Amino acid sequence: MNKALLGFFACFTAASCLLTTACENKKPEIKTSTNQMKDASTKTIENMQAAYKGERTATAKYEAFSKKAESEGYHNIALLYNAVSAAENIHSMNHKAVIEDAGGTVPVITPEYKVKTTKESLSDDINGEAYEAQVMYPDFLKTAEMAGNQTAHLSLSFAQKTEQKHKLFFDQALSGINSNTLNTLPSKYYVCPVCGNTYATNPPKHCDFSFTEGDKFIVFQ
Ligand SMILES: [Fe+2]
Ligand SMILES: [Fe+2]
Repeated sequence: MNKALLGFFACFTAASCLLTTACENKKPEIKTSTNQMKDASTKTIENMQAAYKGERTATAKYEAFSKKAESEGYHNIALLYNAVSAAENIHSMNHKAVIEDAGGTVPVITPEYKVKTTKESLSDDINGEAYEAQVMYPDFLKTAEMAGNQTAHLSLSFAQKTEQKHKLFFDQALSGINSNTLNTLPSKYYVCPVCGNTYATNPPKHCDFSFTEGDKFIVFQ
């Protein structure tokens, strides 16, 4: 197991303690029968496999979009795409660890995507990140909660919160192109190696999602 995954599971242990304490003070809101739990457990692994596919594809496509942005003279947007690609890769590794931990099969995939102009890609990616953050991951999180699968829940939660930030970074980049203010875009990004959380310019001392120390962040500049 690599360092990042060890970090993920260390983070999971810490989160479990927090969850346990929180749950002791709070009655469970979702009451499920044994059959519903079984269905939710199976569905959670299927969801993790689908999420893994999405994150693998995003890793590859954002790497290609970074090259395209550089070729169009958008250096700061190329940096952003590289950082986001690294974040999606971390999500995919976390999801993979959860699938393997549950004895599931990790899908073999060939990423499929089309390289368009950077402006077109940013529009697509804003919609894609918004869908993941606001529809797909919240849905998967509910099922994982029903299944009582805490590692899946943590991995999905890291991804969901990160995708919301990616959407905002892509919004900012597209505005930079549209309003001809590219020089105001960040020229440095940071990615948390445990959860993929992505920061620009001034990162905090600890990651807001996984509490990883800031000196472990991967830097893109
Ligand atoms: Fe992701
Ligand atoms: Fe993302």
